[in-house]
Amino acid sequence: MDPHITEWLNLAIRWVHMITGVAWIGASFYFVWLENHLDRRNPREGLSGDLWAIHGGGIYHLEKYKLAPPKMPEQLHWFKWEAYATWMTGILLLAVVYYLNAELFLIAPGSDLSPTTAIAIGVATLVAGWFIYDLLCDSPLGKQPALLGAVLFVLIIAAAWGLSQVFSGRGAFIHVGALIGTIMVGNVFRVIMPAQRALVAAIEAGKEPDPALPAKGLLRSRHNNYFTLPVLFIMISNHFPSTYGNEFNWAVLAGLAVLSVLVRHYFNTRHASQNFAWTIPVAALGMVCLAFITSPAKTDSEAMTQEVTIQQVQEIITERCTSCHSANPTSTMFTSAPAGVILDNASQIKTLAPKIYLQTVASKTMPLGNMTQMTQQERDLIGVWISQNKSE
Ligand code: HEC
Repeated sequence: MDPHITEWLNLAIRWVHMITGVAWIGASFYFVWLENHLDRRNPREGLSGDLWAIHGGGIYHLEKYKLAPPKMPEQLHWFKWEAYATWMTGILLLAVVYYLNAELFLIAPGSDLSPTTAIAIGVATLVAGWFIYDLLCDSPLGKQPALLGAVLFVLIIAAAWGLSQVFSGRGAFIHVGALIGTIMVGNVFRVIMPAQRALVAAIEAGKEPDPALPAKGLLRSRHNNYFTLPVLFIMISNHFPSTYGNEFNWAVLAGLAVLSVLVRHYFNTRHASQNFAWTIPVAALGMVCLAFITSPAKTDSEAMTQEVTIQQVQEIITERCTSCHSANPTSTMFTSAPAGVILDNASQIKTLAPKIYLQTVASKTMPLGNMTQMTQQERDLIGVWISQNKSE
């Protein structure tokens, strides 16, 4: 497809994806907050609590019923389209960015996987992921939430590891994000909404609602709550090559997931107690540790003895990068320099040296998909040139 058209498709879908995602997660955070802050001391008859709030210049009074008001209101607001729209735009975006240009963004550089097979693996991961998750929740394991949580964590990280064997780092990360996102929307569509519909139907029919219904939705809601922060990281992870570009990218992802789940736990419990306040400094310390662990290895000192000139570097860049990163790219996949990075002359290369280092030496995320077959020697040479010019 014409790269200009895919860029605008990407823009339009990504924008809607972000808007609906903000609406979904925003509403979800708000209702968790609401639930945690209800004043339950002296509830009116039939209520479990209430809450006063001020926002946008108005004062609000919210009341939560133990089950339902004596007569159902004419208009009851449901929250589902935010979730469905986020998922649908997410899948479209996955297709436009990763599936239309599978060789560039999805397939591991150097792998001989065909685009069709790679896409099939991606889609199968999402479908199988949902069914395995759903079965596990409905199995006896569902009665032991902590154990179930641990099993899910291990399975998701195993999926991250497996995907990183066949996909590029970015491709693997985005599929883990899409997998978790699919589970979250599946929970809304297949469990939470049906449970709520059954509850409302029972009340309207004047029947005693099945007490198992809210409990069923609760486990899934709780999962969704803890999934949000890891998913949000994954969605912005393509800006951070030291995460997805790391040799052990799946372990880096596991580390970030643990830290973010801890932080979410603090926010879920902080109203009741400050017992988990330690998670905040621990998460911050964990981030520092991860930054340290992922820091690139020093260029070895033997190689340092050779003098590398800018001419040598420019030759490499011209051969391996400027088909895309030029004021006039020759690659048919780009009509303008990707990410605005233009490497046509020595002064542009010097200015962008730190970024070039991050993308090609510290992580091997550029050339994208290693389409231009850059060699390890060339990466080392650029690394030496950069470290020599740093010490000057
Ligand atoms: C096949 C095309 C292609 C080739 C070849 C290529 N790149 Fe890129 N590069 C891209 C694309 C696409 C992006 C934007 C990535 C994104 O969407 O996040 C990018 C982004 C970048 C960025 C900006 C990253 C950021 O967001 O800060 C740098 C720096 C970069 N490339 C350096 C290089 C270097 C150095 C080479 C050669 C060793 C190279 N690229 C080869 C396609 C390419």
